[in-house]
Amino acid sequence: MKEQQFLWGGSVSAHQTEGGKDETYGMGKSIYDVLPVREGRSDWSVAIDEYHRYKEDIALFKELGLKAYRFSIAWARIFPEGEGKINTVGLQYYHDFVDELIKNDIEPIICTYHFDIPLTLQKKYGGWKSKETIRAYEEYVSLLTEEFKDKVKIWIPMNEQNGCHMPALIFSGMKFDDPDYQKTKTQVIHNLLLANAICVKHIHKKVTDAQVGAMIQYCPIYPQTQHPLDVEAAMKAQNEYNYEVLDVMVRGEYAPRLLIDWKTNGILPEMSEQELKLLKENTADFVGFSYYFSKVTNQEPGKHDLNDLIFGSFVSGKSPFPQNEYLTATEWDWTIDPVGLRISMNELYNRYHKPLFIFESGIGVIEELNEQHTVDDDYRIQYFKEHLEQMNLAMDVDGVPCMGYLTWAPIDILSSGAEMKKRYGFIYVNRNDAELLDMKRYKKKSFAWFQNVIKSDGKEL
Ligand code: BG6
Repeated sequence: MKEQQFLWGGSVSAHQTEGGKDETYGMGKSIYDVLPVREGRSDWSVAIDEYHRYKEDIALFKELGLKAYRFSIAWARIFPEGEGKINTVGLQYYHDFVDELIKNDIEPIICTYHFDIPLTLQKKYGGWKSKETIRAYEEYVSLLTEEFKDKVKIWIPMNEQNGCHMPALIFSGMKFDDPDYQKTKTQVIHNLLLANAICVKHIHKKVTDAQVGAMIQYCPIYPQTQHPLDVEAAMKAQNEYNYEVLDVMVRGEYAPRLLIDWKTNGILPEMSEQELKLLKENTADFVGFSYYFSKVTNQEPGKHDLNDLIFGSFVSGKSPFPQNEYLTATEWDWTIDPVGLRISMNELYNRYHKPLFIFESGIGVIEELNEQHTVDDDYRIQYFKEHLEQMNLAMDVDGVPCMGYLTWAPIDILSSGAEMKKRYGFIYVNRNDAELLDMKRYKKKSFAWFQNVIKSDGKEL
């Protein structure tokens, strides 16, 4: 159901786009700057140089017809040490960026945290293991909401809350098999949920007409056979992966089964009455989610938790799940499942009765410019066509309200799993992992196609 203007848009994160890390900009380091896996690989300190090229890119987004743009703010650009001293140059950058979007009639959507915790907080407090980090985050979001309250009306506190704990734990040097991994994990999950609730509180208090979203990586998980134990395994997997934190962010409380499970396994995090009240009182206005693939599971016990496995497969490219014989997959083994999007939308709306917002959707492919300086990405057109058809069915036939559809990403950016090798955009960026080249932007074939989709408000696919 399209109740208000449907927001066709794009979605990116700070560390995958900005660059601008030169000392003159005063930015502190985040955990992404010290990722061991990046060493000797792509240049993350420049990314796609959005810091210097945002006007050019926003002009292209306007030409594409985007109505909304979701980006993240790099915490360490505002607070180089994560707390205390403010970097006014960084703050001014985001004001200029937001003003440029508004000038071009593109609604800015802020995500305050996209896994990039400032390095100082990680070293000083152990990151999200500590309540000190929550306190620092509150200082940061209090400033953001004060600064942008008149300009930005749609916010999400955190990107993919069901995966947030993963980088947080990995950067604490933890391994899945560490004896205290599970206990630390549940405490980190709880702390991140508290931080989310605090951010919701600040936005609701300070931003007039604010719409705040919960945001997760949603993945439909199908049973491998009709054996009731496989069906039960799929149900449990859905609960664990998709609903564990989303229930808290939308309903304000942990599901009883989760608390029973944590208690039984001796991994119940420390949580006070006051904290539970905070969670109860600060819930989301809409349900945002990223949608890339579906998975299949069965009754055989897995070795690790699902969140770890699924988020882990983002980086490894291979997942240990049974194949779905009815679906094809990308080079990274991500299944292409348009119908899964309709299923997800129905599941989410039936469960929460809140409007949805598709925050990330797209296909990552190895691509090169051809002699005409474009990319004939018919597969991308096909991918979006099929997904948007299913989104339309969910909205028009099933009556699911949805606020918008943001593609990940409208322009090529560093992929978190495969850097410049894996491209998502309608706009090609001329750099690769080995060299920065001239960074020029070129329109791919899908640019004109998506432009028309937006013009026709999704009718012409
Ligand atoms: C999402 C993240 O989970 O997936 C993005 O929010 C990420 O940061 C995107 O880039 C796609 O994953 P990848 O590994 O293909 O870049």
